[in-house]
Amino acid sequence: MLVKTKSGTKHYRTLWLEGKNVRMINQLKIPHEFEIATLKNYKETAEAIRNMTVRGAGAIGISGAYGIYQAVSSANKNNYLQYIRKAADFLRATRPTAYDLFYSVDHVLKTIKDSDNFEEAKKAALKDAEMLAEKNANAGKRIGQYGEKLIKNNFRILTHCNAGWLGFVDWGSALAPIYAAKRAGKKLFVFVDETRPRLQGARLTAWELYNEDIKHAVIADNAAGYYMQKGEIDMCIVGADRILMHNGLTANKIGTYEKAVLAKENNIPFYVAAPTSTFDLKSKEIPIEERSQDEVLFVEGNCGGKITNVAISHKNAKAKNPAFDITSSKYITAFITEKGIFKPNKLKRLEKMLKDK
Ligand code: MRU
Repeated sequence: MLVKTKSGTKHYRTLWLEGKNVRMINQLKIPHEFEIATLKNYKETAEAIRNMTVRGAGAIGISGAYGIYQAVSSANKNNYLQYIRKAADFLRATRPTAYDLFYSVDHVLKTIKDSDNFEEAKKAALKDAEMLAEKNANAGKRIGQYGEKLIKNNFRILTHCNAGWLGFVDWGSALAPIYAAKRAGKKLFVFVDETRPRLQGARLTAWELYNEDIKHAVIADNAAGYYMQKGEIDMCIVGADRILMHNGLTANKIGTYEKAVLAKENNIPFYVAAPTSTFDLKSKEIPIEERSQDEVLFVEGNCGGKITNVAISHKNAKAKNPAFDITSSKYITAFITEKGIFKPNKLKRLEKMLKDK
């Protein structure tokens, strides 16, 4: 999608392969700086996922796929399968909730195992990882096309966290319908939840919308109910990190659940936008990542051009920091996917489509 630079507006993807290097927009620097990170091997790519240089379900999924390719391309002919299995465990252990990571790592791993020999495995892994990246970008575009039809002219839309193109290879999930509606000439306004503690809304979503010239305002996380009650929000669209196919339970950034409950209380449609790679066909439970308490106790910002980290509580304070919460499908109007829009009670149809293919 578009990035305003000193030399004009340029199109960027969130991450890509250059030879054996993974290159990605460093999301720890946005919005204050624009920098491309280079990860030379699977361990560096795994660390970029863990420390959130790259984040968002779709983007970490493709980072995982590229990481497996990096691993096979530096493996030894005699024990490459053993090496790849270890690399897959290492990559999967970085972040437990987002299903796309497991989906993509396992996809490339299977491709390697199915290959006849080491040379074939390297070629097949590259092809598979690039296919997944392309599919990820296209899924976002399709989600945009389906979701755009739900957006009327002058709609005011609430979104939480960042489920934009930075969370994918391109386009995004929750923001894709907004981008498509803008391109279709509709006027829009986006309420951007700041999304404590990592502030993906204030830092990343607002930056994406600024680059796409879409009107928006960052709101404190606890202000959404106020605007819903005043009738100033027409719909909510959020992304997802993992959706259980059998019952539609949806894990997304912490705070999503309370927005969904508030939306139902205020008769506001609440949509979850996600590619089918986010749907978990097997699990019965969703592991919730607990992150460092420092993310709650300190806030980073731009202080006169200097990026500064400041404490916001007393020096002995302790904090708890669950990264995601789970929303029951009774609060979800429908799931917007690249295969179409599905009400929660129609997920069986989507499951059949995925199993039949
Ligand atoms: O912790 P993050 O920034 O990886 O969490 C991201 C989200 O919760 C997104 O809403 C989700 O991944 C869906 S789309 C990228």
